Amino acid sequence: MTLTPAAARPARPVETRPALTLVPRPDALPPATVSPAATVAIVGLGYVGLPTALALADAGVHVIGHDVSDLRLGAIRAGEVDLLPADHARLARHAGSELLDLTADPADLGRADAVLVCVPTPVDGHLVPDLSALAAACASVAAHAAAGQTIVLTSTTYVGSTRDLLVAPLAARGLVVGRDVFVAFSPERIDPGVADHLPERTPRVVGGVTPECSRRAAGMLAPTAAAVHVVSSPEAAEMTKLLENTFRAVNIALANEFADVARGFDVDVREVVDAAATKPYGFMAFRPGPGVGGHCIPCDPHYLLWQLRGGAVAAPLTEAAMNSIAARPHAVVERARQVLAENGRPLAGARVLLAGVAYKPGVADVRESPALTILDDLRRAGATVAFTDTMVNRVWTSAGPLDTEPDPAGTPWDLVVTHTLHPGVDHSWLTTPAPGRPLPQVLDAAYALADAPNRHVL
Ligand SMILES: NC(=O)c1ccc[n+]([C@@H]2O[C@H](COP(=O)([O-])OP(=O)(O)OC[C@H]3O[C@@H](n4cnc5c(N)ncnc54)[C@H](O)[C@@H]3O)[C@@H](O)[C@H]2O)c1
Repeated sequence: MTLTPAAARPARPVETRPALTLVPRPDALPPATVSPAATVAIVGLGYVGLPTALALADAGVHVIGHDVSDLRLGAIRAGEVDLLPADHARLARHAGSELLDLTADPADLGRADAVLVCVPTPVDGHLVPDLSALAAACASVAAHAAAGQTIVLTSTTYVGSTRDLLVAPLAARGLVVGRDVFVAFSPERIDPGVADHLPERTPRVVGGVTPECSRRAAGMLAPTAAAVHVVSSPEAAEMTKLLENTFRAVNIALANEFADVARGFDVDVREVVDAAATKPYGFMAFRPGPGVGGHCIPCDPHYLLWQLRGGAVAAPLTEAAMNSIAARPHAVVERARQVLAENGRPLAGARVLLAGVAYKPGVADVRESPALTILDDLRRAGATVAFTDTMVNRVWTSAGPLDTEPDPAGTPWDLVVTHTLHPGVDHSWLTTPAPGRPLPQVLDAAYALADAPNRHVL
C-alpha cells in the first residue's frame, strides 16, 4: 500500500549539478561520537535549530549555522532571540567565536562533516502540509553534500520524507547512501521555554537508511541528548514523532472534553486531573485550556491525516481530536458571550482583555496561538479587544496590528479572559481587591486562576 498520494507529494528537486567524483578523505570515517574536531552544520536556526547549534558549540564542536533569513541571522548576532536564559548565556559565549559560524550561503554546508536539517514544517490555511521550506532546504543540502557527510533530517514531516527529499536527490547526484553519504531521520524533542526539558536530558530516536547511517547519526547526536534510541528505518523514526504529537493532541482534546463535563457537574476539573495523576501507572496528566498553538500539535497530526487522505486506512480518532482542538477557541468566545450576558452585558460593545497571547507559558511564540482566533472572533462579534502579555509586544489580527495593553490593571474591563499566564507575572489584580479598583469578571480559559473571586470556568 502506498500511503502518500502521488499527486500530492512534493516535486522532487531537479538535479542541476554533475555527479560527484568521490575522493575519499583520510578522515572520512568519523568516530562513533562526534569529536570536538568535527564540523556540524545546522540548517534553519529557529526555535529548534539555534538551541541545538548552541548545545553543540558548548560541547566544543565547530558549528556552521545556516539560515536563509538575513533578518534571523541579524537577530541572532544581536542576541535578540527568544531563548531560555541558559541558551542566552551560551549565545553570548559563542556569538562571534570561532566555534559558531553564521551564514546565509548554503555552499558552506559542503565544509561540514555532518548536517542537521531543522527547518519549519507548517500547514497552510487548508491544513495541508506546507513542504516548501523543507523541500528547499533538503534540495540545497543534497546539492552541496560532500563525500563522507552524515545528514540528519529532524523537522517533523510525513512518513517517507527522508527518502523522498534526501535519498532520491543524493542518488541523482551519484551518491550512494550508506556508502558515500549517511542519511537518517531523528525527530526533535525540544520544548521551548521549559528549562526542565533540556535536550541534553532527553533521549533521542534515530532511524538511518542503513545501520551505518544510524551509527553515524547516533554518534553525531549523542552529545546533545541523554541517550539515543535507534530504530530500524527513517520511516519508523518519522512515524514516532507523529505518534508523540498525535498522542498529545488526542489527550488534550480529552482533557478539554472532561473540563466541559466537569463544569456541568459543578466539579473542578483540575482537582480531578490532579487526583487521577496520583495513580503511578496507566495515567498521564493533560490539562484543559483555550486550545493548542505552536508549531507542533496544531500542525503535525495533519501531516499524517493528509498522507492518509484517499487511502484505505483512516484515522478517525486523530481526525476527531484535531477538529475538537480547532473548535476550542470558538468555544471560548461563546462562553465569553454567555458570561457577559449573565452579567447583563452583550458581547457587542464589551471591553474584553485577553491575558496572555503566547501559545504557552514562558515563550514569546504566537504561531497558531488560539489567542489569535479568540481576538478575531471577539472583534467580529463587536467587542473592543485588547491583550496583555509580558513577552509579546504586538500581534497581527485580521484587522491589523494590536499592541499589548500598557496598563491592564488600571483599566476597567467588562471581562478578562485568561489564556496564557507566564511564570513570574503578577496576576493579583485579578484575584485581590484593591481600594478604588473593582475586580473584573474573569473567564478562566487557562484553568489557572482558581482563587479569582469573579471567576467563571470555560
Ligand atoms: N518549535 C518547537 O517547539 C518544535 C519542537 C519539536 C520539533 N519541532 C519541529 O522542528 C522543525 C523546526 O521548527 P522551528 O520551531 O525551529 O521552526 P522556526 O520557524 O522557529 O525556525 C526555522 C528556521 O528555518 C529557516 N529556514 C526556512 N527555510 C530554510 C531553508 N531552506 N534553508 C535554511 N533555513 C531555512 C527560517 O528562516 C527559520 O529561521 C519543525 O519541523 C517543527 O515541527 C519544533
